[in-house]
Amino acid sequence: MEVRLLEVPDPVLPGPHGVIVTVERTAICGSDLHLYHDAPTGLGIRLGHEAIGTVAEAGASVRTLSVGDRVLVSGVIGCGLCAPCVAGQPNLCRAGQSAAFGTMADLPGGQAEAMAVPFADAFALPIPDGVTDEEAVLLTDILPTGYAGAERAAIRPGSTVVVVGLGPVGIMALQCAKLYGPARILAVDMVPERLARAERLGAEPIDARIAPGSQQVLEATSGWGADSVIEAVGADATVLDALSCASTGGTVSVVGVNLAMALPFPMGLVFLKSLTVRAIFAPVPGTWSALVPLVQAGKFSLAETFTHHMGLSQVAEAYQLFDSRADGVLKVLLDPKA
Ligand SMILES: NC(=O)c1ccc[n+]([C@@H]2O[C@H](COP(=O)([O-])OP(=O)(O)OC[C@H]3O[C@@H](n4cnc5c(N)ncnc54)[C@H](O)[C@@H]3O)[C@@H](O)[C@H]2O)c1
Ligand SMILES: [Zn+2]
Ligand SMILES: [Zn+2]
Repeated sequence: MEVRLLEVPDPVLPGPHGVIVTVERTAICGSDLHLYHDAPTGLGIRLGHEAIGTVAEAGASVRTLSVGDRVLVSGVIGCGLCAPCVAGQPNLCRAGQSAAFGTMADLPGGQAEAMAVPFADAFALPIPDGVTDEEAVLLTDILPTGYAGAERAAIRPGSTVVVVGLGPVGIMALQCAKLYGPARILAVDMVPERLARAERLGAEPIDARIAPGSQQVLEATSGWGADSVIEAVGADATVLDALSCASTGGTVSVVGVNLAMALPFPMGLVFLKSLTVRAIFAPVPGTWSALVPLVQAGKFSLAETFTHHMGLSQVAEAYQLFDSRADGVLKVLLDPKA
């Protein structure tokens, strides 16, 4: 789709439990790139699911937020009322309303000057003390996604982990994998700067331009493979390659978005190796109780995640740059006022 900046009507309060947030910083995600590549222009999608800002208006039933509070907004929401939504897992919404902002026309996103947030008590959090604005943006989506991917990869102390894909999500997953004490992390990508960044974070880089990632992982593990594999690309080829990286009894945890309803699936491999295969749509608010103290304690290297700062007026160039993976770009932070 073509990405353009348009003048649109101001958002209106989405019911008594909702708030309007004046957006101060927002970012582009690899999930936006799926729409950029695959969605036709003209659907009226207002993009963006990573935003922080100030509450400009609050519905009468909102309890935990007030006008003037600076908040970070969960990229993923649900009905706001069912037990999983209330427990911070809108990805498991019982009403079937799990959705990311900015992915459909009736849920306008945060790459904007203002956004409407329904059920704000469940889906927005006052920016905690000691959390920078950039860290707050990372807590809206990709740090929770990386954390959920690592948490579900069954990483044990001393084990070997593979992270397939070293975009911003893979880089978050790699750092979250370290929380579980693996002895080795093998990190697969095709972009030299991203491989170098993973190496600086303590991983062993594997350049998938040379040979398939799984082939190099098997060579690096005496033919055995890795105990835990986190897939953070979402392409058919990398999902399949992630399965081939796993050792007997291993776990493959997919966080890359792949919405294919049918994929050639190596069932024989999964069966004969007794693999566990898991996937997750980020349970964003449910990760905050673990991630906020970790961020406050400086347990992650997040300061250099945003390699490029641009104005929302340059949004078309920003998408082009992020998509091209040129100029050392890892992630682009957008200022709606510039
Ligand atoms: N599960 C969730 O809720 C959730 C949340 C956020 C993002 N995502 C998904 O995570 C994925 C990554 O997001 P991102 O922002 O890091 O995107 P990105 O496009 O910046 O990163 C993808 C990375 O994969 C690498 N890659 C592509 N093909 C490869 C191959 N064959 N072998 C090895 N590496 C390869 C690219 O070089 C790039 O560095 C996307 O699919 C995105 O939709 C999922
Ligand atoms: Zn995202
Ligand atoms: Zn729900």
